[in-house]
Amino acid sequence: MSLLLGIDLGTSSVKAIAIDPTGCVLGSASASYPLLQPQTGWAEQEPDDWWRGTIEAVRTLLSQPTLGPDAAQRIVGIGLSGQMHGSVLLGKGATDAAASQAKSLRPALLWNDQRTAAECRQIEQELGGRRRMVELVGNAALTGFTLPKLLWVRGNEPHIWARVKHILLPKDFIRLKLTGELATDVGDASGTLAFDTDKRTWSEPVMRRLGLDPAIFPRIHESAAITGRISSWAAKETGLKEGTIVVGGSGDNQAGAVGAGVVSPKLVLATLGTSGVIYAHADQPRRDLPKDGDPGRLHTMCAGTGTAAAPHGWCMTGVTLSAAGSLQWVRDQLFPQSSFEDLLREAQLAQPGSDGLLFINHLTGERCPYPEPAARGGWIGLTARHTKADLIRSVIEGVTFTMGQILDLVRSVGVPVSTVRLGGGGAKSELWRQLQADVFGCEVVVTNTEEGPALGAALLAGVGAGLWKSVEEATTATIRETELRGPGPDADRYRQSRIRHAAMWPAIRPVLAE
Ligand code: XUL
Repeated sequence: MSLLLGIDLGTSSVKAIAIDPTGCVLGSASASYPLLQPQTGWAEQEPDDWWRGTIEAVRTLLSQPTLGPDAAQRIVGIGLSGQMHGSVLLGKGATDAAASQAKSLRPALLWNDQRTAAECRQIEQELGGRRRMVELVGNAALTGFTLPKLLWVRGNEPHIWARVKHILLPKDFIRLKLTGELATDVGDASGTLAFDTDKRTWSEPVMRRLGLDPAIFPRIHESAAITGRISSWAAKETGLKEGTIVVGGSGDNQAGAVGAGVVSPKLVLATLGTSGVIYAHADQPRRDLPKDGDPGRLHTMCAGTGTAAAPHGWCMTGVTLSAAGSLQWVRDQLFPQSSFEDLLREAQLAQPGSDGLLFINHLTGERCPYPEPAARGGWIGLTARHTKADLIRSVIEGVTFTMGQILDLVRSVGVPVSTVRLGGGGAKSELWRQLQADVFGCEVVVTNTEEGPALGAALLAGVGAGLWKSVEEATTATIRETELRGPGPDADRYRQSRIRHAAMWPAIRPVLAE
């Protein structure tokens, strides 16, 4: 039986999974690597650590008995997914032919690195302001994105910049090692700020105005298109079979959407991990350009649904930075003896609305609905009557209200929403699933899959290998809805709390953001 391999290069570890053509996960292995934080607000990783981790995870996976004999021989396609926006800088010699020698010139700057505020201002100025940027590349200049990182290295480490010949996104460094190809996909490229998301190609005007040589950027592919084959060198390193195809894959958000079957209009994925992500599929590129308010609170990117023959699909995403991360903070600081399950059980003892208590979840600054690194959080409306249960319940309510606000932004830019599929740790709690149905005001659905981006990458590989004609066909064949629930009797009560919650940050901003 044929197998498909999905590799997801995360921020703390790399995960490799193998599936069969029914979508059944036969094995999974991961390997972790360090996060380097040489200064406050900096976040870096060594691309060589990613490669070592990938070899370890793939080798461990291939040795698992559940895959059956000769696993490497039966793998018909490999897909890559990974943390987005990072910058891998390569010098001369990282040519396609010499991938085994490719070494990055410095550690990669990651998606959560915050050092580039000045470069973001510079980019917006050079390109004619935030609104113009959103028109040009679908996104405002945010510290996490790739382009400001390139300008930072150019300005602060000119000796390194002088040697840069190629730049790659994190998962594409693994592609280079596996296949010798310098390539990326439309979804990950959308997170660089140097990509025209409408035309699905690099933005020459952006590169020209910022004085960047277009030759340093990798080739672009659709997510299910074949980008190369396992080289004989990589086959020896990993145990994979020489010649196995590697498809474009995508950023972890887009690949995660494929892994949850969110690949057609009206479907949304709500993921409650450390951060909370609302991801809406769209059949046309839309822009977050409100008449009043900040442009670019939502990101416009290409989706992972395109094939070489049929490039198509976009997405709108909004990220609130501390979602389940807020609950983790409450647990660590206030209830360190309790598990998450204990906290969620306790929350059920409080009434919906937490007796008027509101929690603002901008604990690590915010991206959406307020693109403000200086945003802050807090409990508002505390009285001596409030209980431990109210404290905890208000946290999960506050996070969900913010997710609901992001979903409303999606609706406001003309992207229709009928069903929200749930992912991340938050989807495991019945209380939190019902809360999402009540607050989102639509059906919420749980699927039979939990592997997210790694599964999405494996399904994309299956399309590239010809097992399915399209990404939509791949997800229909493998992903099923296992639970569906709609808004319940508490939805009205939450509507009132949401209105007060949405008014809160704008009201306290003048005092707290100082
Ligand atoms: C997406 C984003 C994160 C990273 C890391 O915009 O910043 O999801 O991809 O996982």
